[in-house]
Amino acid sequence: MNFADSEIVASILSNEYALCNDIADADVILINTCSIRENAEQRVLKRLTEINVLYRKHKKRKLGLIGCMAERFQKQLINDNLVDLIAGPDAYRSLPILLSDVREQAVNTLLSTIETYDDITPVRYDGNGISAFISIMRGCNNYCAYCVVPYTRGRERSRNPKSILSEVKMLIEKGYKDFTLLGQNVNSYCWESEFRFPQLMEQVACLSETLRVRFATSHPKDLSDDLLKVMASYPNICKSIHLPAQSGSNAILEKMNRKYTREWYVGRIEAIRKYMPDAAISTDLIAGFCGETEADHQETLSLMQRVGYDYAFLFNYSERSGTYAQINYKDDVPDDVKTRRLEEIISLQRASSHKSNLADIGKTFEVLIEGNSKRSSDFYSGRNSQNKVIVFPKTSHPIGSYVQVKVESCTTATLLGKAID
Ligand code: 5AD
Ligand code: SF4
Repeated sequence: MNFADSEIVASILSNEYALCNDIADADVILINTCSIRENAEQRVLKRLTEINVLYRKHKKRKLGLIGCMAERFQKQLINDNLVDLIAGPDAYRSLPILLSDVREQAVNTLLSTIETYDDITPVRYDGNGISAFISIMRGCNNYCAYCVVPYTRGRERSRNPKSILSEVKMLIEKGYKDFTLLGQNVNSYCWESEFRFPQLMEQVACLSETLRVRFATSHPKDLSDDLLKVMASYPNICKSIHLPAQSGSNAILEKMNRKYTREWYVGRIEAIRKYMPDAAISTDLIAGFCGETEADHQETLSLMQRVGYDYAFLFNYSERSGTYAQINYKDDVPDDVKTRRLEEIISLQRASSHKSNLADIGKTFEVLIEGNSKRSSDFYSGRNSQNKVIVFPKTSHPIGSYVQVKVESCTTATLLGKAID
């Protein structure tokens, strides 16, 4: 989301400013921030201090903090004189005004119930010319007990489908092929109470047979059969679903306010497998949430075994001030226990990802070539429909074309193969 938001910010500022590659050349430095876990915030604060010492004092350049940390840290940042301006996630349109403000420090952290930046064409400044993120909704109404997002990004709101479709069309004309529809909870997308996410996916898929469309991220409670049917019936809708479970224990799921049980979640996994037997399934899990017992932790491990995730994002619970959990529960799992549990989860996931990759050896996938492999320019890198990265020796196919690749070997993270046409 922040990557996509930074592209919106670049667009909003494009009349007055051009992007530069070297921080030392910048008149304005904006740091886009995430508050989801404490360690993300700590990294930003460290970076801000470094930038202050290295760059801010030298020249009359402006340093700003934007994104989710804006509201939460405004007092501290202003008192410590660490920044010249602060703008929250719904205040990017005011950046030109904040930057021209003659006062010492300019701040706008107001949240909106309607802002979707739908008329702004993002500047794709750091991409490969093939893959693009398309923001389709903002905010979240789910209030998971541990999560700061509803407070930092505000209420859920969907973007006008006309502007989404015209952005995709424009990018297709520029040669883009791979689109990820983005939102905190994309499958609760809803425009004028009847146009919902499955319809939007279908309309995007119908724009061109040669595009690919995927989405991130979805809440299990909103993963409808209608969406699965649409996904199954369009070959250009990618067969990969990120379905954050957070925990495998019903007691913890309830405390987290996730609004589903383990059994219901497993039912959704079975539905995915029924409609799309070849779909990749990934997840997010949190280790050591308030009150998590060893038995709860074992339930998470057993859910992982039951589902066999293709990959996963795994985190220690990090208490966030102002959330329901911070106010009502005790962060009572000791750090060493959290870390040990997380390590067990990580090692199980490594084995599961490796198993999933081993099962692909010998299979042939359609791969969209996205660029050179990071390791060697003799190799191309691309992804298949399941969102797995496949690296293979270069062929005469240009970047941006589809090629059939037979998988010959793998690591835990990557498939290695050969183009066969
Ligand atoms: N602590 C740890 N992980 C968190 N996430 C969200 N809030 C927290 C928190 N307080 C994780 C969830 C979510 C992902 C984006 O970040 O797993 O799905
Ligand atoms: Fe946070 Fe839950 Fe909303 Fe995801 S669904 S952004 S975890 S509150």
